[in-house]
Amino acid sequence: MATRIVQVEPFDLVVFGATGDLSQRKILPALYHRDQQEQLPPEARLIGTSRRAMSDEEFRSFARAAIEKFVEPEFRTPAVVDRFIARLSYVQAEASQEEGWPMLEKALSSGKDHARIFYLAVGPDLFGPICERVGRHGLVTPLSRVVVEKPVGRDGASADALNDAIGKVFPEPSIYRIDHYLGKETVQNLMALRFANALFEPLWNGSHIDHVQITVAETLGVEGRAGYYDTSGAIRDMVQNHILQLVCLVAMEPPSSMEADAVRDEKLKVLKSLKPLTNTDFENHVVRGQYGAGSSAEGAVNSYLSDLGNSDSKTETFVALKAEIGNWRWSNVPFYLRTGKRLPQRSSEIVIQFKNVPYNVFMQTTGHLQPNRLVIRLQPDEGVKLWLSVKEPGPGSLRFKYVPLDMNFAEAFTKRQPEAYERLIMDVVRGDQTLFMRRDEVAAAWRFIDPILDYWKENVDDLKLYQSGTWGPTAAVALIERDGRTWYEAPQQ
Ligand code: BG6
Repeated sequence: MATRIVQVEPFDLVVFGATGDLSQRKILPALYHRDQQEQLPPEARLIGTSRRAMSDEEFRSFARAAIEKFVEPEFRTPAVVDRFIARLSYVQAEASQEEGWPMLEKALSSGKDHARIFYLAVGPDLFGPICERVGRHGLVTPLSRVVVEKPVGRDGASADALNDAIGKVFPEPSIYRIDHYLGKETVQNLMALRFANALFEPLWNGSHIDHVQITVAETLGVEGRAGYYDTSGAIRDMVQNHILQLVCLVAMEPPSSMEADAVRDEKLKVLKSLKPLTNTDFENHVVRGQYGAGSSAEGAVNSYLSDLGNSDSKTETFVALKAEIGNWRWSNVPFYLRTGKRLPQRSSEIVIQFKNVPYNVFMQTTGHLQPNRLVIRLQPDEGVKLWLSVKEPGPGSLRFKYVPLDMNFAEAFTKRQPEAYERLIMDVVRGDQTLFMRRDEVAAAWRFIDPILDYWKENVDDLKLYQSGTWGPTAAVALIERDGRTWYEAPQQ
């Protein structure tokens, strides 16, 4: 059955930081794809803004180059590219200077009744000043929304300050805090799997689940983002947001509806139930590592310190963490979380490890049975595998094989899977906050992360080096093996 694409209402999207990396790699290609799918109405406009001096034509050439580079050739139709490019204009404006802002006012004056989106694709230090100017110039209309990227803040206190600054100009229902993991197709499928199927929910608790593993592994290093990354590290860059959001989707209670606040209320309860790590916990519950030289698919690679050009950095590029959720459903079910750069393969997976059968009637004939495992593969090769023990065909004594019931999305759905940003930007235009983090969620996530950051500040020497191309420091293996469990290594594709 063909998917019905519903055109959105007219909108103006102002992108601050329009000439930056995010705009080039994600925002412009995402909007192009939506245009290609006929989802943008004729009136939709994009106004690029940054402090660089640029004409409309220069910005359009920049956008053309971005589409050329980041949109797959089979989707680049000249007529659609031209139509998309014609929607773009450019205004030079800076958060700290008055110049340029009257031009922005003028550019927006003709679309007062359209949804108006301010996308802050800039560093968090500019969130407050940009919002302040937007407010001062009277650019906020009843249909205005602001989009900010993660991580919101460096810790709970700075996140509060940022949220206060944004909140002075935009009310909470107009603030869209993007976590692009929530826009990934398979991440949304996690909700479908849990709440559109009756099969799993009765088993989805500590009586039947032994533990949960979430791995977000990357082969890349810090690439051109060392400056940002070194002030952030893996815990702020990945754990505080993407990974804790995944924990929420696995662990939340079924919401009463799919309304934004019904879903976010349930996610918030999970974040609030995360057991804070106490002083005695840290050594056994958290491991942080930094990649050394080694190898990756491209061949020999440098250490983080040489990528950075700073031999003193103690920033972590790997984190493994044992988290526990203090509520009835998840009592005694550890959540093992890990993420890192320069790991052996790019793979993001959620593994639900079920308990073994209560009594093995096959013990005499076949020996030990492997417990069921549900593997939700977020990327690449999106899909779901349910591992079962089945009888190997053939006469003679019973022999079991542990095989997956395999649902590969690329095979099941042959269409192109939209990128997370496509979905999320259209949600902003429609005014749907379901897949965006509410302020209290951000604060609750920091309440769990802050004690870890404080501990690391006091204990700089526990940073462990790992060779690029391996699964992180050996301490991460010990973290789970201490509990008699092992990390699930996804088979190489
Ligand atoms: C970003 C992080 O949010 O997510 C990056 O800042 C990371 O460091 C990226 O590489 C991973 O996203 P994806 O979609 O490639 O898994």
